[in-house]
Amino acid sequence: MSNDFTTAMRTAAINHSRPSTPGAEWWRSAVIYQIYPRSFADASGDGIGDLVGITERLSALSDLGVDAIWLSPFFRSPQRDAGYDVSDYCDVDPIFGSLADFDALRDRAHDLGLRVIVDLVPNHCSIDHPWFQQALAAEPGSLERDRFMFRDGRGENGELPPNNWQSIFGGNAWTRIIETDGTPGPWYLHIFDTSQPDFNWKNPWVWEQFRQILRFWLNRGVDGFRVDVAHGLMKKEGLPDVVEVADAAGLADAISAPHEVPYWAQPEVHEVYRDWHRVLAEYEGDRVLCAEAWVEPLAKAALWVRPDEMHQAFNFSYLGTPWEAERLRAVIDESIDAFTAVGAPSTWVLSNHDVVRHPSRYGLDTYGAAPASGIGPNTVDKPDDVLGLARGRAATALMLSLPGSAYLYQGEELGLPEVIELDDHVREDPTFHRTNGEVYGRDGCRVPIPWETASPAFGFSSSGDSWLPQPADFARFARDVQHGDPASTLELYRAALRLRAEHRLGTGALVWLEGYGNDVVALRNGSVTVLANVGSLAVDLPAGEVLLSSTPLSGRMLPSDTTVWIAVD
Ligand code: GLC
Repeated sequence: MSNDFTTAMRTAAINHSRPSTPGAEWWRSAVIYQIYPRSFADASGDGIGDLVGITERLSALSDLGVDAIWLSPFFRSPQRDAGYDVSDYCDVDPIFGSLADFDALRDRAHDLGLRVIVDLVPNHCSIDHPWFQQALAAEPGSLERDRFMFRDGRGENGELPPNNWQSIFGGNAWTRIIETDGTPGPWYLHIFDTSQPDFNWKNPWVWEQFRQILRFWLNRGVDGFRVDVAHGLMKKEGLPDVVEVADAAGLADAISAPHEVPYWAQPEVHEVYRDWHRVLAEYEGDRVLCAEAWVEPLAKAALWVRPDEMHQAFNFSYLGTPWEAERLRAVIDESIDAFTAVGAPSTWVLSNHDVVRHPSRYGLDTYGAAPASGIGPNTVDKPDDVLGLARGRAATALMLSLPGSAYLYQGEELGLPEVIELDDHVREDPTFHRTNGEVYGRDGCRVPIPWETASPAFGFSSSGDSWLPQPADFARFARDVQHGDPASTLELYRAALRLRAEHRLGTGALVWLEGYGNDVVALRNGSVTVLANVGSLAVDLPAGEVLLSSTPLSGRMLPSDTTVWIAVD
């Protein structure tokens, strides 16, 4: 079947007046591509990507064969956490463009058959948000203060933070304010950066604001929301100390830390998503809510996607699984069991804007090291790029064969590695600065992506500017040099996405196969046999037409660190 066929299928599906049958909604099997707007394409030439740049480049994504895009925040923001610090939820930040630019992007995407998901950041806003500014200006005990988490300090004069909570980015999770008369006041909670005050989700006013924000974007025709820090909104009554303090060495470390953490996964949070489910149900078509809930085990994460809550939750357990056959089989089984138990599809993901890119992770000796800690010039364990890319390609080919929905992060279709050599002064991740450079953080996966090998900034920006410097090595990863080269990572992704659609793998069912040895992850999904050789020895290939191979094959052998798809006779 041709690309035209798959595009036609996607286009036909984008008809908001025609909801699909329950159980057959588009998001159950969709491949969703994450765009990180500041690093995708810069039309204005200021070195920061923007919405016009995205619109101009969108056809590359329909050509790739994805079903939807998720845009990381492009809302008004002082950009202290790259837009995850929002100062106006219903407007576009001028560095990214305007609401009219968003409308044009949405229309172009829908014309190309791509759904559009936007990022919603409900746990906190920016200190620049008028709501927080009003809270600062208002009296202690006022309605305005009650929208946030203000508390008096401990100690004789309130000079100590209200409890021992630490910021995920390092340092204290509380900051003391100075009242308008110059006296020291209470403290406000910020689980992330000081510039990101947490909302008080026990206050119904906050609920109403977010209903309105959801409706604003739904009315503008978005197909859904990725919900930031979806496990964090509710804090345990009384804000008790964390008994075992999470190690702030990295986002992933801290967020998957002991479950007793009183700011994660409190049962009341689910009421919020039941409320939002009802808001989405007011709209035609199948709109989706996807939870960024770093919660383990998967059975617990699945609570976010019970039938009356969200629709998808990121599968961070899968993202964190090393390249080991037994662990991969176990996490795939656990994922399908956990999500099926609540009637939701499993999702799959290997990379995003918060973690070390997966080809680099797979090239590390110590894969298990917190993927969000980042890798920099002084990191001892540096990735083996060749091994990492082979494993990364094999891992993607395995992931895209699985039933459910998969998320891709911009640049992974080019096989981009993590950028390690970034000078301290160009790093922007607050994690790096809050830990005094001890944790490199996430800049290395956020470097603007290469489009054309011979253009300024590799086609990212016509001016040649780039908010993070691109390494010279990006030349060989540029999209134009990979396009049409059957050995390239780009063509591997295109072929996998085309075959995934043709063989309807996203809506298929997985059966494990025996007889290939312990080191081969062997499964059948409908008309396709999938073999991922995670071991160090080549194994015999079974009979059948090879549809896809993550490395070139010689003869009927499956080399190590390779995944093949074979047509079932
Ligand atoms: C989420 C985002 C991350 C951001 C944090 C605070 O984890 O993915 O990029 O820094 O929330 O909003």
